[in-house]
Amino acid sequence: MLNDFISDQKAELKIDGKVYQLPIIIGTEGEKAIDIRKLRTETGCITIDSGYMNTGSCTSDITFLDGEKGILNYRGYAIEDLAKNCTFIEVAYLLDHGSLPTQKQLDDLARMLTGFSMIHEDMIHFFDHFPPNAPPMSILSSMVNSLCNFYPEMTENPLENFDLMSARLISKIRTIAAFSYRKSMGQPLVYPRHDYSYCTNFLHMMFDSPVNPYEVNHDVVMALNKLLILHADHEQNCSTSTVRLVGSSRVNLYTSISAGISALGGPLHGGANQAVIEMLEEIHANGGGYRKYVERAKDRNDPFRLSGFGHRVYKSFDPRARVIKAACDQVLEASGMSGDPLLEIAKNLEEVALQDEYFIERNLYPNVDFYSGIIYRAIGIPSNMFTVMFALGRLPGWIAQWKEMWDDPDGRIGRPRQIYTGPTKREFVPIQDRIEE
Ligand code: SDX
Repeated sequence: MLNDFISDQKAELKIDGKVYQLPIIIGTEGEKAIDIRKLRTETGCITIDSGYMNTGSCTSDITFLDGEKGILNYRGYAIEDLAKNCTFIEVAYLLDHGSLPTQKQLDDLARMLTGFSMIHEDMIHFFDHFPPNAPPMSILSSMVNSLCNFYPEMTENPLENFDLMSARLISKIRTIAAFSYRKSMGQPLVYPRHDYSYCTNFLHMMFDSPVNPYEVNHDVVMALNKLLILHADHEQNCSTSTVRLVGSSRVNLYTSISAGISALGGPLHGGANQAVIEMLEEIHANGGGYRKYVERAKDRNDPFRLSGFGHRVYKSFDPRARVIKAACDQVLEASGMSGDPLLEIAKNLEEVALQDEYFIERNLYPNVDFYSGIIYRAIGIPSNMFTVMFALGRLPGWIAQWKEMWDDPDGRIGRPRQIYTGPTKREFVPIQDRIEE
């Protein structure tokens, strides 16, 4: 709890000649925050911080990241170790329970995921009524939200059923994603198999065919596990903060996650992985001239930004991008796409940008989205499904953050303040006396 981390240090604030002392919170990794919970009561002032660039919303035991040093740890474990040694489900257990699972705990979770892999047959008819070009993220958000109608018992006393609720959602989001893809392609649905692992089952449901059985490639399965692990949590990013804020009004997990999916779909957030591939394909189609795109990204009069570059927190290389970049060559080879021109363009873009004053001055480096699409594309996943893949990976993190918020004894509904800058008090004017301003 926040009060456990109040240090002896104080911050001094002087307003209208009066000096106020504010407690300083120090986290387990040495991060410091000024505790302003009593600021308005004591000073009459609030703080303002558009985009919450300098504002913490909570303390959390789940993920630590250091943007200057390029560090990302889940529950104290380095992302590089987890991506190298774990399956996605192992990391999902870690995020939701706080420790790596024993073999029995992992087997129990895998068994639950297998048991929950189907969705209610009535839900399948929903797919028939979305417009053909409906964005997959809006379908996913709608379908996840509708789960609470099929499992109302999960919403009445959520924490009693947390493990079931969490496993049910992690398993079913995979089936919903695959089914929405098959429907969009006009292909028959492929149901999950009980003898397949989480990622293998997803690939099976996406790509198997009655006339051309899908052969699961071990390297592709390992790469998918790695990608989902790297996306699994990222402290209080836009979509996670959305899940917490919506959940703070005590709506159920499924509805809170549905809101997070909607936030993730934005091109400045999770939608960037799709924008990166579209940018690389455009450069390739135009003869590969990547330098002019770097110049466009620097031009303040041009709204174009180098998708997959820059980050609110990382002011050095995003550690996830480093791991994904290293995995690209192996997956491309496994998928028979060695020498993919888009990867060469991406590497050239990175090299030019990282030597350019504009990017250096602003600490703009490749982020998680810059290389991930190269791998998704090599696996055969269409670019309009890339952000859906981001949501599949981020789900265990959202669930862990929602539970931490729900469990917090100091927790209360999220309700930021504002500073009003509109017209001061005006006398009412009857409509017949009004003139156009
Ligand atoms: C994710 O928060 C998270 O943790 C998110 C995420 C997660 O795991 O949940 O890591 C996932 O969302 C990764 C980010 C994906 N988005 C993109 O790749 C879109 C392109 N990137 C940018 O739009 C931007 O970098 C953001 C949105 C990621 C961060 O924006 P900020 O922190 O608000 O920074 P800013 O927009 O104020 O930029 C600072 C400067 C500006 O220039 P000046 O006004 O100082 O002259 O850097 C420039 C920006 O114009 N800039 C870019 C740029 N990103 C920032 N210029 C060109 N290309 C870019 N990509």
